[in-house]
Amino acid sequence: MKVLGIETSCDETGVAIYDSREGLLGDKLYSQVKTHAAFGGVVPELASRDHIRKTLPLIMELLSETRIPLGELDGIAFTAGPGLIGSLLVGASLGRSLAMGLDVPAVGVHHMEGHLLAPMLEPEPPKFPFVALLVSGGHTQLVKVTKIGDYQLLGESLDDAAGEAFDKVGKMLGLPYPGGPHVAKLALKGVTDTFQFPRPMVNRPGLDFSFSGLKTSVKNAISELSKEGDLDPQARANIARGFEDAVVSTLAIKCRRALQQTGLERLIIAGGVSANLNLRQVLESTMSQSGGRLYYAQPEYCTDNGAMIAYAGCQRLLAGQRSKLNIDVRPRWPLESLSPL
Ligand code: KG4
Ligand code: ZN
Repeated sequence: MKVLGIETSCDETGVAIYDSREGLLGDKLYSQVKTHAAFGGVVPELASRDHIRKTLPLIMELLSETRIPLGELDGIAFTAGPGLIGSLLVGASLGRSLAMGLDVPAVGVHHMEGHLLAPMLEPEPPKFPFVALLVSGGHTQLVKVTKIGDYQLLGESLDDAAGEAFDKVGKMLGLPYPGGPHVAKLALKGVTDTFQFPRPMVNRPGLDFSFSGLKTSVKNAISELSKEGDLDPQARANIARGFEDAVVSTLAIKCRRALQQTGLERLIIAGGVSANLNLRQVLESTMSQSGGRLYYAQPEYCTDNGAMIAYAGCQRLLAGQRSKLNIDVRPRWPLESLSPL
C-alpha cells in the first residue's frame, strides 16, 4: 500500500510517500523558519497562509521526483492534531479532498503518534513493548507503548515542554528562533559545571516534569552577569552548557525511573529534542549500563516531517481505519485517547 503523508501542524510543510512493502519512497520538507524568525516565534496566521502556498506544489514535486503517478496512491494520511488549527485545516482539507478525488481512503494522524513511530523508519526498528520519551516543542511525555495505538501516559511536563524551554533560553541568549539547535551548538563550547542549574522535580517521586523553574534560574544567571558586564561569549556558552546538562540529566533520571517502573528494557526517544546529541549520548550510556537499548530516528525524522505521518497513516489504513468525509481536526488531542490497532 502506497500512502501519501501530509504534515502541516505547525511551521513545517512535510510530505512523503511510504510503501508498506518497500518502505519510504521519498519525502520533502519546507521549513517556515525564515517567515517567523523576525517575530521570534511562530505566527499562526502566517503559518497557515504559507502552508496554503506550499503544500500542493510540494506534493507535485514529490510525485515527479519519485515518478509515482497520483493514480498509484492507495491512501492519504494527514496530521489531524494536535497543532495550530488553521495550519491543521490546510493539510486536512487538501488530504481529505485529494483522497475523495482519487477515490482512496484517508486517515487523520495524531502528530505525536507520528513522532513516536518515527524510529520505525530506521533499518533496525524497536520491537514492542517499549517506553517512549516524547520531547518536542509542545510536548514532554513518557509513554508506555504496548503496540501501535496502545499508549499509557506515565508522566508529562506540568508547564513548559523541553523544546519550549530550549527555545526560551535561546531567546534569552539572543540566539535565532527556534533556539534548540542553536543552544545545543553553543553548549559545545561551554564548560560543564561552570553553572549548576537545578534538576527540576527529580527528588520527588513520579514521572512528571517541570521546566519553568530551570528557565527562571537561567534568566536570573543571565541578568546577574549582564549587570556586572560579564556576559561574554564564553559565559554565554557556559550557560548554554549548564542549561542543556540540566535538561538532559533530568530527562535521563526520569527515563531510568520509567524503565524501572514498567520493567521494560527498550527506550525510544522522539520529537525535535531527540535530535540533541548530548541527550542521545547520555541515554545511550544509561541504556548500555542497564543492558537495555536506545532507539531514535535520524535527525531529519526527529523534527516535524511528512515521513512519520505517512508511516503512521499507513499502519492505520492497513488496519482498516478511515476518516469520514467531513474535515475534522483537533488542536488538542490526548495521545492516550487513540484506539489500539
Ligand atoms: O518535534 P518538533 O519539530 O516540533 C514540535 O512538534 O514541536 O520539535 C521542535 C522543537 C523545538 O523546540 C526545537 O528547538 C527543538 O525541537 N530542537 C532541539 C534540537 N533540534 C530541535 N532542541 C535541542 N537540541 C536540538 N538539537
Ligand atoms: Zn512535532
